[in-house]
Amino acid sequence: MEIVHTVAELRARLKSELIIGFVPTMGNLHAGHIDLTRIAREHLLVHPFNLAATPGCVVVSIFVNRLQFGPKEDFGSYPRTFADDTGKCRAAGVDVVFAPTEAEMYPVPQHYLVEPPAIQHILDGAMRPGHFRGVATVVLKLFNMVQPTVAVFGKKDYQQCRVLDNMVQQLNLPIQMVLANTVRAEDGLALSSRNGYLSAAERLEAPQLFAALSKLKGNLIAGERNFAAMEADVTAALQERGWKPDYIAVRRSDDLLEPSAADKKLVILAAARLGATRLIDNLELMLGE
Ligand code: PAF
Repeated sequence: MEIVHTVAELRARLKSELIIGFVPTMGNLHAGHIDLTRIAREHLLVHPFNLAATPGCVVVSIFVNRLQFGPKEDFGSYPRTFADDTGKCRAAGVDVVFAPTEAEMYPVPQHYLVEPPAIQHILDGAMRPGHFRGVATVVLKLFNMVQPTVAVFGKKDYQQCRVLDNMVQQLNLPIQMVLANTVRAEDGLALSSRNGYLSAAERLEAPQLFAALSKLKGNLIAGERNFAAMEADVTAALQERGWKPDYIAVRRSDDLLEPSAADKKLVILAAARLGATRLIDNLELMLGE
């Protein structure tokens, strides 16, 4: 495995690679990220451009992107665990780790920014103004640096997946986007770098977010369609347990707009604070299957 820090080194390393799988991360890697590298490799092996069925080249980027953090968010304290991360990548068979410095990533100032459409202002975007602009900008820059054939993102960040998938379609980027299922701990908690912030007691409570979403999903499958009432019930139940929910929302999975009773492809999205930690999670469902 090679570790490179500059775009020039990256291009030199990748210039003879015909097929590249890419997993962008902010480091502090956990089993969910490692699963994305496995999925990247699987997609390379069966990719139509891969006529000789070679393993291809899997690239992981590690870059804590200041542009997607709000002024009061955890950019400064975001866990930076580079040695551990590269060890995990090596063990997982990753070929290249790209870890640019901030100066390598951003000119000062970065004048050109990717401004996503209205989806950037709802749900997490309403709570974190500018967040999805920061994500879309860094991911487009990373795509231009790595020039991947396949890029893999985890559906735990569901709105991020929708924003980026839409960006790739609308800007005709020649990249196959793979959106991978969330990896969960045995008790249901979605794996996240921010789980490390939880105290022992909070970690015991944390799976209740997934439990609440699962209950709401059960109600939808049972035929309930009063979305607002169901969202309010879950919000109240979590509040009673000491959570501070930012939103619990049933949405159409394609565009994250509010569904009508006839919509079938749905996703339940949640963001809630447990103590000082903000957790997000979601569950997709297809009604009538
Ligand atoms: O999901 C993340 O870790 C980040 O938002 C990403 C996609 C690496 C962009 O910084």
